[in-house]
Amino acid sequence: MTPAEFIAGLPKAELHMHIEGSIEAPLFMQLARRNEVAIRWATEQELLAAYRFRDLQAFLDLYYDGCRVLVHARDFHDVTRAYLRRAHADNVRHAEMFLGPQGHTSRGVALRTVLEGVFAAMDEARAEVGISSGLILVAQRHRSEAEAFELYEQAMPWRDRILGFGLGGAEVGNPPSKFERFFRRCRDDGFHVVAHAGEEGPAAYVRESVELLGVERVDHGNASLQDAALLRTLAQRQTPLTVCPLSNLKLNVVSSIEAHPLKQLMDAGLRVTVNSDDPSYFGGYVNDNYVACQRALGLTRHEVVQLARNSVLASFVPEARQRELL
Ligand code: ADE
Ligand code: ZN
Repeated sequence: MTPAEFIAGLPKAELHMHIEGSIEAPLFMQLARRNEVAIRWATEQELLAAYRFRDLQAFLDLYYDGCRVLVHARDFHDVTRAYLRRAHADNVRHAEMFLGPQGHTSRGVALRTVLEGVFAAMDEARAEVGISSGLILVAQRHRSEAEAFELYEQAMPWRDRILGFGLGGAEVGNPPSKFERFFRRCRDDGFHVVAHAGEEGPAAYVRESVELLGVERVDHGNASLQDAALLRTLAQRQTPLTVCPLSNLKLNVVSSIEAHPLKQLMDAGLRVTVNSDDPSYFGGYVNDNYVACQRALGLTRHEVVQLARNSVLASFVPEARQRELL
């Protein structure tokens, strides 16, 4: 059995992917046509050629612009369904997905439209292929805390269907501390909370996420390696990191997968998980990320199994369901 076959066979959860980052080029072109949205690219090839990014901001510019092809509930349904089916093919049994409503409501698409499409696809995927999923709403960190609260209030009619809240977007210059009151509110009301930190930003942002925001998982967290005391805290608490290796490569967070800190983080005793982030933009779904790391970092089968187990243990599903997934 090849390492790729072994990885494909492992049941796993995916905990860090953005629904808007999973629109494959054919669907992107189809949605642009269907909704008569003007785009800069005439063909799929031209679109794919634009997927070269200097850094996170260069990616975010294209990503937010790309969101314009999502207009109707059916569009949000189609992209969510396509992701969940594709993830199921990678033996993902459970997915906790990110969605950034502000990127849609700010251009006049109602939150109801967005959520109705996404929830319908989640229900269908569970019924059709058995994959369970949850939805985490992500506030954009370049916006104000007041806007995050606004998103929160708008989402309350669907509170029973929302797994939690997160923080994403342009990291440097927008520290977690900016959202301390927002996260306290989310936690007080019983939502799970996570935040992107230590992707381009420093270890101090990871520390703030854990200590000020009280996050249950850190999204990315690469920079943790720069702070030995922080590493010990993360290991002690078993705070999961949702690491995204191919994303880090595409956004020049690492110079190569060989130089990726994933194994060092595992060796420091952290609960590391592997995820795809924005699979259609970064050239790989979750298994591709596992395979790239196994090859480049020489991970043993035992280590690969540990990563897959971690993904289930770091998920927000109840323990009984975790046991089913393992
Ligand atoms: N939104 C989508 N992908 C992201 C990433 N890699 N970092 C921060 N925000 C994001
Ligand atoms: Zn992300």
